[in-house]
Amino acid sequence: MRATLHNMFKNNELQKTVYIRTFGCQMNEHDSGRLKDLLLERGYTFCDSLEFADVVIFNTCSVRKHAEDRVYGKVGELQKLKAKKPGLIVGIIGCMAEAQKDEIFRRLPIVNFLCGPADLDNVPGIIDRIKNGAGRIMYLEGYKSKIIPAFSRNRKTGETAYVKIMEGCDKFCSYCIVPYVRGMERSRPSKEILEEIESLIKKGAKNITLLGQNVNSYGKGLQEKINFVALLTKIDKLTSIHPRGAIPGAPSQGREGDIKISFFTSHPKDASLELFRAIRDLKSIVKILHLPIQSGSDKILKRMNRKYTVAKYKKLAGDYKKIVKSGNISGDIIVGFPGETEKDFNDTFNIVKKLQFDAAYIFKYSPRPFTKAAGFKDDVSLEEKERRHTLLLDLQRSILLNKKCQ
Ligand code: SAH
Ligand code: SF4
Ligand code: F3S
Repeated sequence: MRATLHNMFKNNELQKTVYIRTFGCQMNEHDSGRLKDLLLERGYTFCDSLEFADVVIFNTCSVRKHAEDRVYGKVGELQKLKAKKPGLIVGIIGCMAEAQKDEIFRRLPIVNFLCGPADLDNVPGIIDRIKNGAGRIMYLEGYKSKIIPAFSRNRKTGETAYVKIMEGCDKFCSYCIVPYVRGMERSRPSKEILEEIESLIKKGAKNITLLGQNVNSYGKGLQEKINFVALLTKIDKLTSIHPRGAIPGAPSQGREGDIKISFFTSHPKDASLELFRAIRDLKSIVKILHLPIQSGSDKILKRMNRKYTVAKYKKLAGDYKKIVKSGNISGDIIVGFPGETEKDFNDTFNIVKKLQFDAAYIFKYSPRPFTKAAGFKDDVSLEEKERRHTLLLDLQRSILLNKKCQ
């Protein structure tokens, strides 16, 4: 308490209450957590209600247009609050800040700053500059630097925690904006990852999820010679040293094998039998594989630039089931991609029926700026996309119901 008061007087700052809302994937959840830790270090506090906030931050997603529309709507609603509180600072950070930079400043005069996903460590400094009278700030230069910042020693954690092992993507699936907003693939050195995991475990984390747009490419471009399976093996070894998640010497309340490690996402092109064996053999690794299929039609997969065939996917999923006996598998599917005919959709329907995913995330295709598919004719009508979406959702629901009854 005294330290906090001291900081407040030292910095002579009021306006220290922040509201952060996160959209999008777990990568964004992770980034918001990191930003909170950095702001906490500077004496900020957080609120769950907009009306108490001095600073409002939206950490945003651009993967589908709908995600962006929600943010435009929410920020629009802040107009009234700003009228009551002229000093309110509003920031849009994350993927949409990269994708929609000019548009956001044009459409939303209320927004004070934009900051891209690779630059988030600069947010506290940006807020200071705005408080000191700087005009609007657009901070979007980071992903060229290709460095994933080291973890904060003050990182807070509950029982569940995310650890970024790599970021960005070089796959350029023709529909996907991620490479344009998160930059090219880069991995973190294993030493840094292991230190972070150990520190989290000592602070009580039990369920740790390793994050990357394509975790199977982990290690590329690093000086050390390491791949994803080797990283998993090292992490598993670490969890056997701290099996109960307790600080050595402190009383432990856990049981042996309490620490669970999950990871995603895996790309079917890079998933290997070696990975499946690691999932089977390493004690701490949760037996769940998220392996997005996207479509059951070779023609569409090719147009999506996914670099595998339906047959290859089926073989991989079959091998996984054989090797990891009680393993779960889940997938992502896009319906209504340009050129998807009724036959292509039926192929997707049938493969979903056959594969019996334990979870399937089904999306309606949404054209995205910068992407190759944005140049294709978006020729499946919205009604048709909705019909296909509902059909697949119903199918997946019935698959899950059946599984529960078994
Ligand atoms: N890196 C992960 C996740 C990417 S985004 C991966 O490669 O799987 C998560 C999911 O959103 C994708 O798997 C895809 O199914 C969906 N998606 C991405 N871009 C999309 C778009 N333009 N329209 C609809 N769904 C999309
Ligand atoms: Fe997007 Fe494809 Fe990369 Fe996944 S693998 S992030 S879908 S470009
Ligand atoms: Fe995630 Fe959305 Fe960005 S899915 S990587 S927050 S575009």
